[in-house]
Amino acid sequence: MFRRLKDCHNVEDLRLLAKQRLPGPIFNYIDGAADDEVTYHRNNSAFDDCDLVPNVLAGVDEIDMSVTVLGQKLAMPVFCSPTALQRLFHRDGERAVARAAEKFGTMFGVSALGTVTLAEIGEMISTPKMFQFYFHKDRGLNDAMVERAQAAGFNSLALTVDTITGGNRERDLYTGFTSPPKLTLKSLLSFAAHPGWAKDYFLGEPFELAELKDFVQQGSNVAVSIGDYFASMLDQSMNWSDAEALRAKWGGPFCLKGIMSVADARKAVDIGVDAIMISNHGGRQLDGSRSPFDQIAEIADAVGGKIEIICDGGIRRGTHVLKALAAGATACSGGRMYLYALAAAGQPGVERALHNMRTEIERDMKLAGVTNIQQLNRGMLRYR
Ligand code: LAC
Repeated sequence: MFRRLKDCHNVEDLRLLAKQRLPGPIFNYIDGAADDEVTYHRNNSAFDDCDLVPNVLAGVDEIDMSVTVLGQKLAMPVFCSPTALQRLFHRDGERAVARAAEKFGTMFGVSALGTVTLAEIGEMISTPKMFQFYFHKDRGLNDAMVERAQAAGFNSLALTVDTITGGNRERDLYTGFTSPPKLTLKSLLSFAAHPGWAKDYFLGEPFELAELKDFVQQGSNVAVSIGDYFASMLDQSMNWSDAEALRAKWGGPFCLKGIMSVADARKAVDIGVDAIMISNHGGRQLDGSRSPFDQIAEIADAVGGKIEIICDGGIRRGTHVLKALAAGATACSGGRMYLYALAAAGQPGVERALHNMRTEIERDMKLAGVTNIQQLNRGMLRYR
């Protein structure tokens, strides 16, 4: 079936539209995950093992879905997680996501493996911006990244802690996906079969990792898989003291992305972190890892009130957001949730994704009998 944006009513519709527009290796890079992709699916299905118990007659004509995260007020309780390589998916890349996030008053996370400079994004939007940081072996690169994010007016820094080596992404092994894409007979055939994408990629602005290209060739001029990039460029000796030193150097709101255990959540509190993103990197790293949603309650019981808790992963529906917030999360975030939409249709696509999400949250809050996010609580959840 040929799909159009106006017929996309949910994340799955946008996923299918992205699949239609993107060459196979690129679609599968977004859509794929590690090993048997058990965690990838579990991130999503975990929400189905928990039921909402709604209240009624609550006077829900006016609802307020705003939340405050990392010192920033967001108009909706979901934000765009940092994701890499966006201009590979759509020629407007981060520019499209930034403008869409601004329209919806939510936060935009920009990846260290981004394809538009932090300075440009900083100029472009005035709404909350998070910079996602990979701890590289090259200390000069690390220092420059922090300084550039500060100069560009980013509000918060998120250190990713779950990519100490590359995940086993077998779809990328089968397709030969690299950044930038390698030109082989097989890849050229898949590009030729997707002329809309190929025209933008080959005739448009050259692809590069905007902030990294001055320091590393890999990813911009030298083709490398994302797994190999993590394994060869990032510092595997990274530990809690490094995280603490980075927090001090940054000096502003600081977040750890990829915390899963209560023990680590407690350590995050000890080193003065402001927020944690409970995340398994969209199932792209350690397959078999528990879902972020399933970890919220025990982490919230241990550190709730001392640190903000962001549920990152598996969010496809407004009800998922309600369940995560009721379990104890401060806010939610997602990558594929808007990334399929970016690939499918650029800024209008991301706007569609955020519009669908906001509409669902509003409807679901009314149906659940809550008028603001603070009213969501664990009494409204029953686990099967
Ligand atoms: C990935 C990285 C780049 O998961 O975040 O592919």
